[in-house]
Amino acid sequence: HWGDPRKEIGNKDKEALMSHCFNSLTCGNEMKPAYNFSPETIFRINPAANEMMTWCKENNMPMRGHTLLWHSQVDPSIFAKDFKAYNTKGLVTKSDRDELKEDCLVSRDELLKRLKDYIYGYMEYVYKEGFAETIYAWDVVNEAAEESNEDGLRKSYWRQIIGDDYLYFPFLYAREASVKFAKQYADVYGLDPEGDLSSISPKLYYNDYNEWFGKRSDDIVDFLTKRPYNKDRKVKSDVIKPDGDGTIYGDGLIDGIGMQGHLTDAQNIDEYMVALQKYSAAVDEVQITELDVGCSHSDENAFYYQAKFYYDFFSRLVEEKKKGAKLDAVVLWGLTDDSSWRADSTPLIFFGDLSRKPAFDAIVAAGKGEEFTMEMTTASTEATNIFIDFEPVIDGNGKDITPDLKELGFVRRGSGHQAVIRRVGKINHTENAAIGFCLKVEREEKDATVMLNLEKYIGKMVEVKAFVKTDDKLIKLGLDSGDSTELAAVENTDEWNEITAVMDLTGDLKAANAYFETEGAGDMCIDDISVTIVEKQDVDSTSGDGTAADQIQNTDKPSSTGKVVAAAIALAVIAVCVYVIRKKKD
Ligand code: GLA
Repeated sequence: HWGDPRKEIGNKDKEALMSHCFNSLTCGNEMKPAYNFSPETIFRINPAANEMMTWCKENNMPMRGHTLLWHSQVDPSIFAKDFKAYNTKGLVTKSDRDELKEDCLVSRDELLKRLKDYIYGYMEYVYKEGFAETIYAWDVVNEAAEESNEDGLRKSYWRQIIGDDYLYFPFLYAREASVKFAKQYADVYGLDPEGDLSSISPKLYYNDYNEWFGKRSDDIVDFLTKRPYNKDRKVKSDVIKPDGDGTIYGDGLIDGIGMQGHLTDAQNIDEYMVALQKYSAAVDEVQITELDVGCSHSDENAFYYQAKFYYDFFSRLVEEKKKGAKLDAVVLWGLTDDSSWRADSTPLIFFGDLSRKPAFDAIVAAGKGEEFTMEMTTASTEATNIFIDFEPVIDGNGKDITPDLKELGFVRRGSGHQAVIRRVGKINHTENAAIGFCLKVEREEKDATVMLNLEKYIGKMVEVKAFVKTDDKLIKLGLDSGDSTELAAVENTDEWNEITAVMDLTGDLKAANAYFETEGAGDMCIDDISVTIVEKQDVDSTSGDGTAADQIQNTDKPSSTGKVVAAAIALAVIAVCVYVIRKKKD
């Protein structure tokens, strides 16, 4: 938070608001490995983290420690011999995104030693400096799941070097350290080392995103509670007795699962509650650790829809809790919209000026079991054909009135690490462009993409067409209406590839966004997007009745303009339509 004008600690009004409305605080960045690791001492406290912990202690604000092991925001030196990580170009790197040269990586034993020293180092610091009553939970591991891998585990340098059982060790070391240092420093807290030390024993959590995905949640439960990483008791501990069944949970190394909760107001709440029940059945505690609910509408009712979602979501949480869900906390990921990592989708419950949003009142109403009484205003429904070429717009007086991406309806998509979206020059598809601009989507993950809001077309059928440039093999276009329906896929064969889909935006849709994706996580450039209202009879539906199942078959038909690749279509099913896929004309 240092040097950031939007910081919370140090801004007296924000401090007052936090103290008044919240009873838990998580550091967004300050406690992460990237800022607390040092090659010289392995653990070295980040002064900003110290300041946050001190504020929490002085203001009786319980804290979640976030996080001890993560594949991201980590200095790669920890993986390297002599703490010198070389990327594939042979240069020393500090970037967590670089691929590292095989021969610079340390051995399993060395990395385990460093991991242990780091976790013990952080834990001891917390006890010794008097913060052990403040930190009530630790996200020991963040984001180890990857449902597209068969075993559900993400590939990372932690895993590559230590092996498939790597996940057992951070939990083991965190538990050991808390048991050891709670005894050792009990007197700092006026406690008897042999007595009840629960007030200084943090709960240990696993934390992840997209946590409601079916296979992903099964995988998480599986690798935390069913895989006997320590079946043969090869791993010994001189502090605790991990004498259960060799699983992380069975050996008593984990207390809870953190559901991050990066949602949108079109999220399927039932699906989320199924995941909550699943995790509740698997471990002793569950917390929603990073809740933010992006607006999927951009009209004058955007905050109405968001508030309604927060209301429905919290009402269901209260219900689930009554039915036995082991939910202990719901933590919002940020105080005000302007400082959110998803600022463009305004996902939080306070505006930048600290006034409360409708979502705040909605949560209060849900908590009190009151009705939701907020009313919608009549939204303007003007829907016309559009063409977006990202070229600058200059008015008659020579003033630059180019609309920004948000005004055009572009929002980042995905619930994990967000893409960076910006208008860039020199990469361009538009013929005779005034200057030559396109939309660039810089991404790290497959589901981190961009979408174009189409809500004003709900009730109509539209054809969406665009040109896409990427290094990935397959380009996809789909409809995100809360559920995702992939509608078109084209092979990357040209510099710019045309992709088209017709979308039937039926009146019952909660949201409507056209999303762009690739089979991969490479950057994308998009240009010359058109949205054209079409009459249903104009759509080529010569075979079948235009149902979802019918459309899958239609994808296999080559169009007259080029080779077609069949889309692998997820029939999440809301609105689907007849569509045409074709490659750009040469
Ligand atoms: C993930 C991490 C958080 C944070 C967000 C983006 O959810 O767990 O620590 O980095 O991404 O702000």
